[in-house]
Amino acid sequence: MSCLPATAGRMERIAPFYVMDLLARARAMEAAGQDVVHMEIGEPDFITPQAVIEAGQQALANGKTHYTPALGLPALREAISTYYQERFDTQIAPERIIITPGASGALQLVMGVLAEAGRKVLLPDPGYPCNRNFVEWMGGTPVALKVDAASHYQPTAEQLSECWDEQTVALMLASPSNPTGTVIPPTQLSELAAFAEAHEGVLVMDEIYQGLLYEQAPATLLHERPQHFVINSFSKFFGMTGWRLGWLVAPECYVDAIERLAQNIFLAASTLSQYAALQAFSTDTQEILEQRREIFRQRRDFLYPALLDLGFDIPLQPEGAFYIYANSRPLANDSSTLCEDLLQKARVAVTPGKDFGRNQAQHHLRFAYTTDIDQLHKGVERIRGCLKKR
Ligand SMILES: Cc1ncc(COP(=O)(O)O)c(C=O)c1O
Repeated sequence: MSCLPATAGRMERIAPFYVMDLLARARAMEAAGQDVVHMEIGEPDFITPQAVIEAGQQALANGKTHYTPALGLPALREAISTYYQERFDTQIAPERIIITPGASGALQLVMGVLAEAGRKVLLPDPGYPCNRNFVEWMGGTPVALKVDAASHYQPTAEQLSECWDEQTVALMLASPSNPTGTVIPPTQLSELAAFAEAHEGVLVMDEIYQGLLYEQAPATLLHERPQHFVINSFSKFFGMTGWRLGWLVAPECYVDAIERLAQNIFLAASTLSQYAALQAFSTDTQEILEQRREIFRQRRDFLYPALLDLGFDIPLQPEGAFYIYANSRPLANDSSTLCEDLLQKARVAVTPGKDFGRNQAQHHLRFAYTTDIDQLHKGVERIRGCLKKR
């Protein structure tokens, strides 16, 4: 049915998040009594650590039900500042830390203050699908940089020198990346930052998977380059997706504009969630999160060779997050059709490459190891059976 008045023209350019549709269909199959292995979901299967849940319950019992300041609860901004100091040996003034409704809220704020008609924002393809839509939403132009295994699926300074022009204001990137789980090597990152600085631009660095690294120690761009935007969240490493809480570290000169935008868009992040998150940095909670990280590592160590054995081409072992981006070309002509077959015939839900951009999208699938190892075993065997019959 067509709407009157018609939806704004920009809606033509806002793509759906296919994985959400896939998840809904997988859930419908389950409701009809079928057993589905979920390897599409980008959220930890673990529930939020108990101490955090209890802090949320306590906040409710204490009547913490009013708005916080738009930039966030001062105690939480302090706690995040202390986290940067203690974990990353990096001094970040609490005044630069803005509490947001998830990393999603942070991404909207950053694009709100940077993107507009006539401005370009560069981003990797494949990459996190919502980013290009945030740029579009603000009237800006997203420019996709094709990335591949040769550069860890991350942009390079050479690409910036080819694509950056007078209209370009920022480069968005994520490390570890969604969908590839790859990390940007420090030298490559320094070159990108230096390039952006030399051209009066900024990096918008998404560190949402910062705590989920399996070989190397977590790091932050802010340690070397404090003058860029850094986004983080309580969703992934902290296991708090449903609490909708994240944060943004912004250069000081943007904080006033961001505050005005936050006041207007969402007034403040959830009060309950902010009180709960105060417990996320406690030693006990951090221990639990570290144990979970180890479990994710074990899952990756099972799934990566298992997918290679099935015939997928995965040139780099993912170093973080909980995703494996696999080239399905040796097995199928089109990854969306394969994805559909896997759901319908093998009852395994995975995400098609088209969710992450256009670059070789029809030859890739994203597997998420956000389910336990028995389910992963089951999923792999079902996929093996399905591939044999194709
Ligand atoms: C790279 C990246 N950034 C941001 C988000 C949004 O996360 P949230 O809004 O739950 O913090 C996600 C979610 O999958 C993501 O993968």
